[in-house]
Amino acid sequence: MGHGGDHPPIKNLAFPLADDKTSVIMTDIQALKSELTGQIEAANDLKALDEVRVAALGKKGRVTDLMKSLGAMDPEERKIQGQALNVFKDEIAEILKTRESLLQKKDLDSRLSSEALDVTLSPRPEGKGVIHPISRTMEELTGIFGAMGFSVAEGPDIEDDWHNFTALNFPPGHPAREMQDTFFLQDNPDSQGDRGRMLLRTHTSSVQIRHMETNTPPLRIICMGRTYRSDHDMTHTPMFHQIEGLMVDKNVHMGHLKGCLTDFARAFFEVDDLPMRLRPSFFPFVEPGAEVDIGYVKKGGGIELGRAENPADQKWMEVLGAGMVHPNVLKNCDIDPDEYQGFAFGAGIERLTMLKYGIPDLRTFFESDIRWLAHYGFDSLERP
Ligand code: PHE
Repeated sequence: MGHGGDHPPIKNLAFPLADDKTSVIMTDIQALKSELTGQIEAANDLKALDEVRVAALGKKGRVTDLMKSLGAMDPEERKIQGQALNVFKDEIAEILKTRESLLQKKDLDSRLSSEALDVTLSPRPEGKGVIHPISRTMEELTGIFGAMGFSVAEGPDIEDDWHNFTALNFPPGHPAREMQDTFFLQDNPDSQGDRGRMLLRTHTSSVQIRHMETNTPPLRIICMGRTYRSDHDMTHTPMFHQIEGLMVDKNVHMGHLKGCLTDFARAFFEVDDLPMRLRPSFFPFVEPGAEVDIGYVKKGGGIELGRAENPADQKWMEVLGAGMVHPNVLKNCDIDPDEYQGFAFGAGIERLTMLKYGIPDLRTFFESDIRWLAHYGFDSLERP
């Protein structure tokens, strides 16, 4: 059975049969499709392709013109022709899109191969960074204590109560804990009691404990790093840096402590006969405990570190806390206090830096003001 007999015309087809009376537009569509496809394939750059798009789908474009001719048709015919035209329009849009992404890729490829980045270009002077004074001081401290046989130990900023307080002989609820008011975090559910109570360390003394727990004497370490307390004024920031020192050996005594700190202070402040004195003080983890002062004199409107010619003019300022490691602390770390003794000391790195370089306000250290850094920073290639 061939076509054309006495079958009723098939309607509702997107592409009606060629002998249907409604197929005038279809012929146009077929012709236009091969014409536009040819133009799209011939467009060799994105600009040419866009011109083809406007000529086809734009307000006065060829496809749009065909759409307009629908208006003159009767409703039945318009429905069929309209469907066919919409399919056609979508097809053209699709072909345009495919060509467009191909041309975009071609465009990118040719730019990648023609535009090169010269990584050998030397840095411009204005981009030169400087070393932050805190980092500089840490390098100096490493150098000075390194020469005295101390190595550098590290510990976490997020500590547990045991390492920050209890093992350092701050019993739970002891008022000395209040001198170091800190930021508590969520408890660690995997650990019991004070080992699961998490906080930001209030001092670097926690690293003493960590080091003694995992090493056997003789020990000689410093630890430097961030510490946290809930304070904020001209001389306190909630985050600051400390250095901690620990020496544990047989027959260690207060004289070793004072000798070590005197040598350190003279080297750090570059004052040969810098005087030092120890005043009794309380820290739960040392016995005896001391606050350590260095001497200065008033000069002009300011101060000068050093020994006064006339003892009556000698002034003192506190720079460190120190003492002999408390026997309870040694025991907490399984070290026998009858066999070993130790000394420990701690200081604020900002304070040491402010004194050495005459920086007046602690808060400026952490404001990231590029002018401050340019003024107080250190050349990255200059060694302390
Ligand atoms: N950890 C003490 C503080 O932060 C300082 C210190 C360290 C005192 C070591 C004695 C011994 O205040």
